[in-house]
Amino acid sequence: MWRYSEMLPVQNNQNIVTLGEGMTPLQPSVTIGKKYGIEKLFIKDESLNPTGSFKARGLAMAVSKAKELGVEKIIIPTAGNAGSALAAYCARANIKCKVIMPESTPDAFAIDATYHGAEIEKVSGSIKDAGARTAQLVKSENWFAVSTLKEPYRIEGKKTMGYELAEQLDYVLPNVIIYPTGGGTGLIGMWKAFDEMEKLGWIGSERPKMVSVQSTGCAPIVKAFNDGKKNAELWENPTTHAAGLRVPGAIGDFLILQAIRESNGIALAVTEEAICIGTKDMSKHEGIFPAPEGGASLTAFYQLVQSEFIKTTDTVVVFNTGSGYKYLDVLKERM
Ligand SMILES: Cc1ncc(COP(=O)(O)O)c(C=O)c1O
Repeated sequence: MWRYSEMLPVQNNQNIVTLGEGMTPLQPSVTIGKKYGIEKLFIKDESLNPTGSFKARGLAMAVSKAKELGVEKIIIPTAGNAGSALAAYCARANIKCKVIMPESTPDAFAIDATYHGAEIEKVSGSIKDAGARTAQLVKSENWFAVSTLKEPYRIEGKKTMGYELAEQLDYVLPNVIIYPTGGGTGLIGMWKAFDEMEKLGWIGSERPKMVSVQSTGCAPIVKAFNDGKKNAELWENPTTHAAGLRVPGAIGDFLILQAIRESNGIALAVTEEAICIGTKDMSKHEGIFPAPEGGASLTAFYQLVQSEFIKTTDTVVVFNTGSGYKYLDVLKERM
């Protein structure tokens, strides 16, 4: 992703902490697109990033910048993937790392983060509770927190997904981008990248319709979108096996909703059963073993073709944001 370093905030490239993140494949669908009559369906496969998810981009950026600024210890509340990524980049930068995650987080995330030398603390509840515990530790132990959108750099890493999509599609953006949404930084980051590229004269004013996908077990953004609200209400008792979507309140809710609306996009919730179907289909028909969040994106694609939100001539990009290998305990129960 550092091919875009001129557009990223690290000032001295010697401070870049990298494990080879970014420029993930944009795979043309071999089966599902044809089956649904959408010839130009692509899967942006973020599972091939270091530590198995798109979170590598944001955390590579945040840790690089932290190194540049002399930060010595970093803490994060996480649904899983961000914790793995932070731990790996901190190991590489020799920065102390602490990861706070809900007890229900799939095992792999605590295991690899521990191997990377991070301290792990599990809390009952959701990432919201992990966030509250993080805030306590910031005060009592003076950690630097890289909670979603509470520091300015993770989003800068994530925006590189937007730059890449443009480059991979020869600077003609797709008509529709389908993205699974928790804290929403993936979506907000790409939206920022499109604005920057327009200012650079690389693209025009056209924008993809941004589709935000959540689970019916935790859909605050979808509810706010449908209710015409600018901000989302806190979702009570969030439940979904797509751990990254179990975010009851996103700090950037208004930015997510703004991007969806400005793009003439949509927010939609998919059931847990539908997520399983998406996960299985992507594995079986496209050879990509996705995180359940990627399964959610694919199943949303099915619904949007059916509702004719997606037109047969559209170029559509479905994001698989992470790897199924991190969710083996969860996926085993749903085979
Ligand atoms: C695999 C995966 N997909 C999607 C998300 C949601 O990403 P965001 O918080 O940027 O909306 C997460 C967050 O943890 C995730 O781990």
